[in-house]
Amino acid sequence: MKIGVDYYPEHWDEALWEQDADLMKRSGVELVRMAEFAWSVMEPQEGEYDFSWLDKALALFQEREIQVILCTPTNCPPLWLYEKYPEALQVGRDGKRMKPAVRGHRCYNSPVYRRYTEKIVRKMGEHYRNATNVAAWQIDNEVDSPYCCCEVCAGKFREWLKEKYGSLEAVNKAYHNEVWSGSYSGWQQIYPPLGGWPITQYNPAYMLDYQRFMSESTVEYVQFQLRLLREYFPRIPITTNTYFSGSMTDFYDLFEELDFCSYDNYPTTVLPEEGYYSHAFHLDLIRGVKRKKFWIMEQLSGATGCWMKMGPTVRPGMLKGYALQAFAHGAEAVLHFRFRTAVGGAEMFWHGLIDHSNVPGRRYAEFEDLCRTVQGLSYIDKTRINAKVALLCGFDSEYAFKLQLQTEGIYYFEQMQAFHNAFSHYGVNVDIISQEEELEGYRIVVAPTMYVRSQKAVEQLHRFAREGGIVLLTARSGVKDENNNCIMQPLPRDYRDMTGCWVEEYDAIGNRKIMVEMDGENYQGTHWCDILHLESAEALGVYGEDFYAGKPAATRNAYGKGTVYYIGTVGLPALCRKLAEQTLQLAELPYYKDIPERVEITVREGEEGCFIFVFNNDDAEKDFLFEGGRIKLKPFEMKVVGGKQNE
Ligand code: GLA
Ligand code: ZN
Repeated sequence: MKIGVDYYPEHWDEALWEQDADLMKRSGVELVRMAEFAWSVMEPQEGEYDFSWLDKALALFQEREIQVILCTPTNCPPLWLYEKYPEALQVGRDGKRMKPAVRGHRCYNSPVYRRYTEKIVRKMGEHYRNATNVAAWQIDNEVDSPYCCCEVCAGKFREWLKEKYGSLEAVNKAYHNEVWSGSYSGWQQIYPPLGGWPITQYNPAYMLDYQRFMSESTVEYVQFQLRLLREYFPRIPITTNTYFSGSMTDFYDLFEELDFCSYDNYPTTVLPEEGYYSHAFHLDLIRGVKRKKFWIMEQLSGATGCWMKMGPTVRPGMLKGYALQAFAHGAEAVLHFRFRTAVGGAEMFWHGLIDHSNVPGRRYAEFEDLCRTVQGLSYIDKTRINAKVALLCGFDSEYAFKLQLQTEGIYYFEQMQAFHNAFSHYGVNVDIISQEEELEGYRIVVAPTMYVRSQKAVEQLHRFAREGGIVLLTARSGVKDENNNCIMQPLPRDYRDMTGCWVEEYDAIGNRKIMVEMDGENYQGTHWCDILHLESAEALGVYGEDFYAGKPAATRNAYGKGTVYYIGTVGLPALCRKLAEQTLQLAELPYYKDIPERVEITVREGEEGCFIFVFNNDDAEKDFLFEGGRIKLKPFEMKVVGGKQNE
C-alpha cells in the first residue's frame, strides 16, 4: 500500500521543488506522478527536446527514495503540432474541426497524431530507459471515446464495417436500413453521425457500431503507446488512468493488455441528505475490471471547481476516510490530486493538498495522518476480498441505453448501483465484473438490465443457474440482439426459460413511483413496469396500483439446481434490499442485519486472518454494537476489526 501525489514541476519555480520534495518525504509520500500534460515543455519546438527539468525533478525524488510514475504527455499536443497539422484535431458532429484550446481534442485515428505520438514516446523511452526509480508508466490521461467525425475516422469506420460484415448487403441487413430509405448502395455513403440531429434519431444499430468503433479506436491508440513503451521498459508496469464520463471507453477492452487498472477517484463532498450513499460502487467496479488490485492515480484532496462552480470543501475526516475506503476495496496505491493547488491555468480552483496560501493547513495535516496510518496497514497487502456476490456489467448495454433512453430517469449504471447499495447495506462484499467473466465461485449473480445480447453472457448465466447459482435479473433484459435491434419474441427473450415468466406488456412510467406488495408489506418501484405472465415462476410481489394492480411485479423460479429471480420494475432502495436479503438467505450467506445507515463493511481475508474494515461514510458519528463489541466511529472514520494485526 502506497500513498502518493500528483505533481507538476513545470508549474512551479525550480526553487520550490526541493522544498516540496522534502515536505513530501517528511510526510511519508512514496510515489509521485508527473508529466502527463507537459509535451510543450518537453518539446517546445518540433524536434527540440528538453528533458532537463524532468531529469532534475526525478533526481530530487530519487535522492529521497520516492518513486515516480512517468506519463506520456499525449493528452496535450503542442500548438506547433496543431498549427502544422490541423488534421490532428477532432471534428465534431457539426462537421467543424475543433480549435486548439483547453486540452484533449485530438483524433486518436489521425496518422499525423500517431506519428508524433510515436516520436515523443520514443524520445521519452530513450531518455528514461535507464532511470531506476520509475514505479510505473501512465499512458496519456483520462482517455475517453467522444465521437470524432473527421474524414480519417469515417474511412476507418468503413474499413471496420467491411471487416465485421463483409458486404454492404450484410450491413444493410444488420441495420434494417430498409427503414427511412437508409440502405447504403456504396461504402462512401457511410459517415460518422454528422448532421447535428439528436443522437436518438439516428439508427440505433448503426450508432452502437459507431460507438463501439470509437471505443476500439481509443483502445487501439492506447495499445499503440503500450507497444512502444514495452520496447523500452519491458519490466515496468504500464497503465492508463480512467474515469467515469459521458463517453467512456469500454473498460474491459481498455485494460485487457495493460498491466493494471487505474482510476481517478473524486467522491462527492456533498452527501445526499437522506438515503444510502457510497462511492464504493466505483471502486468495486474498477477492482473487477482486471479482477485484481488497482491504483488510484488521482484522489480527492480539496474542493473541486474550474469548469463548474466550486463545490464545498472536503470535510474533516473525508480526505483520509475516502483514501482508506479505496484501500479497503482493493487499491494498491492512492495518489492525491494534487500536491499544490495551481495558481494559473483553468484549474486554479480545483484544490490540491496545499492551498494557494502556500501554508499547509487542515487538509494537509489530515493527509500526513493518512500517510502514518497507511504505514501501519501494510498487512492488508496480503489480504484479498473474497466476494460471493457478483454484479454484471456490460458496456454495450451502457451505450445502447444512452442511445435510446428508455424512460425518464432510468440509467444503466444506476441500476447496477442500486443493487450494489442494497448488498452493501448488509455488509456483503460485491464484485462488479464484466458480463462475460467466468462466474465460478459466486453464489449470487445480479444481472441488471441485460439489454444488448451477449451470447456468452446468456450461456454463462444459464449454466450458473443450472448448476445451483442464484440469479437476479431485472426489467429491460433480453430486449436487443447483438446489433441493437429488437427481437420478435416475448421478453425477457433469452432469459424466459430461466425466469419462468414473460412480459405481457410494459409501462414506461418515468419518474413516477409505483407500489409493489410483497410479503404483506408495501414497497416502491419506479421508471418501468413489466407486467408479468407466470409460466413456471411464482409471484413474489404484485403491483399495488394502476390498471395492472394485482399482476406480478417480481418472481422466483426454480431452474436446474438453481433459482432465478426477476424484478419487472426499478426498485427503490427498500425493494432492492428486500430482494438482496431474500437471495442472501437462500444462499445461506452471512450478512449484517443491523449496521447503521452509511456504515460500510469490507471483509478482507488472508493467511493472517480475516480483517473487517468498518467505514463510516457519513458526516455524523456512529455508535453501535458490532461483532460482540461496541464500535464508535467519527465522521468518515475507518476501523479495522479482527485479524492478527501488526503489533
Ligand atoms: C481529471 C484530470 C486531471 C484534473 C482533474 C481535476 O481527473 O485527469 O488532470 O483535470 O480531473 O479537474
Ligand atoms: Zn477523427
